[in-house]
Amino acid sequence: MFLTASAQPKGSFDPADLHPVSPITLLLLTSTNMKLTALRSTITAVCLTIGTPVLLYFGILGALTARPSFQAHAIYLHKVTLTWFKDLNVPEQFGFAYNQVKPFYVPTPDGERLHSWHILPLRAYIDNQPELLAQGSGLVDSFEETLNFKLLKNNPNARLVLYFHGTSGTIASGWRPDSYRSIYAADPINTHILAFDYRGYGKSSGEPSEGGIIQDALTIAAWAMEVAGIPPERIVIYGQSLGSAVSIALVNELVKREQKTHFAGLVVTATFSDVAQLAATYRIGGVIPVLSPVAKVGPLFKYFTSRLTSTWDNQKRLGEIIELAEQFDITLLHAEDDPIIPIGHSHRLFRHLINIAEEAEIYSDVDANESLAERLKTRQDSWGKGGSVLEWPTSKGTMRFVTLKYGAHDEIMSYTATSIAISKAFGSASYF
Ligand SMILES: *[C@@H]1O[C@H](CO)[C@@H](O)[C@H](O)[C@H]1NC(C)=O
Repeated sequence: MFLTASAQPKGSFDPADLHPVSPITLLLLTSTNMKLTALRSTITAVCLTIGTPVLLYFGILGALTARPSFQAHAIYLHKVTLTWFKDLNVPEQFGFAYNQVKPFYVPTPDGERLHSWHILPLRAYIDNQPELLAQGSGLVDSFEETLNFKLLKNNPNARLVLYFHGTSGTIASGWRPDSYRSIYAADPINTHILAFDYRGYGKSSGEPSEGGIIQDALTIAAWAMEVAGIPPERIVIYGQSLGSAVSIALVNELVKREQKTHFAGLVVTATFSDVAQLAATYRIGGVIPVLSPVAKVGPLFKYFTSRLTSTWDNQKRLGEIIELAEQFDITLLHAEDDPIIPIGHSHRLFRHLINIAEEAEIYSDVDANESLAERLKTRQDSWGKGGSVLEWPTSKGTMRFVTLKYGAHDEIMSYTATSIAISKAFGSASYF
């Protein structure tokens, strides 16, 4: 949407204005001995029909390369809120009970304000409904004075899911509200959720960038541990798509600062290797190709990916977590029918993690790579039409790969398999 609205020069040529000219027409025109001028104009029309989209594509690519702000819009799609005409301070509009969700702001050290939702698990809501109903509604200035906050902070068994959403939209768009309800379904007494909009999204201030969003994630994690007082062992970091990159970057950063930091789990769905590899197949909104047309032309692809201002190198960051953390618990979920990010991204990541955990040298040793492929196959436990799960214990913790046959790109976050994965991470239990 942004691309067509802003990057297409005014008065430019629109291929839709041309009548399509098929090769058969062309053949007929030539064989009937039409005048040369008619032929020439036909050829011109054909060239324009093919040439215009190509020129337009390279025009857009050029603009994306030259203007970082264009690029930020194309990657983060933060102005595509998808919750137009609704109020993010009225969570009841998105299916929650009155005062079940409290919107509030969390300030970042660099002066931004992150619009956040605390979502109370259903049983905790029902058990405290009269007192919750008696509170004022909507955005609160001091969340810490609400009963909602006290039910989180004062419950020694409270668990907290820090929820990092994907690109475009807001905390309340698409499948996200459904996924919150699905997540606490496994434990409706103790599982609280904290969701928020990154800088530049929804009602949060600022503009998104990789560094800025990582700062936001660090701020939210600090809020959870220091203000709400929840120790990391009772926190699961959950992210989908772009949010999986944010989750991975957060855990990576905290592990680098303090190797003992151990969250109950890092659960990510629809993850990608890094932005460059993603761009090779990615289409904005499933339609506009980004780099796929140039992905096969090595030098051209290299040039454009070198100009990316956000790289989100999940492969590198996950590898560092495996290397540095004293303990970890990592689950990758991916649906086979994901049309936006192919499941191959998660396959590659999982192999990479095992490679690091076992120092297997799969990139240089063909035999090692083949034997890993064999072991991966035999360790897979089938869930029939649901998919499969693979659990890989290491000396420092467990890595899991959950494959769903159905789940697409976004729906998966509201699916039972995601809730089970988060629940398993909290329990530190195995699937077997
Ligand atoms: C390792 O094996 C996988 C398939 O199991 C393959 O896709 C990949 O290209 C191989 N990697 C190397 C470095 O040979």
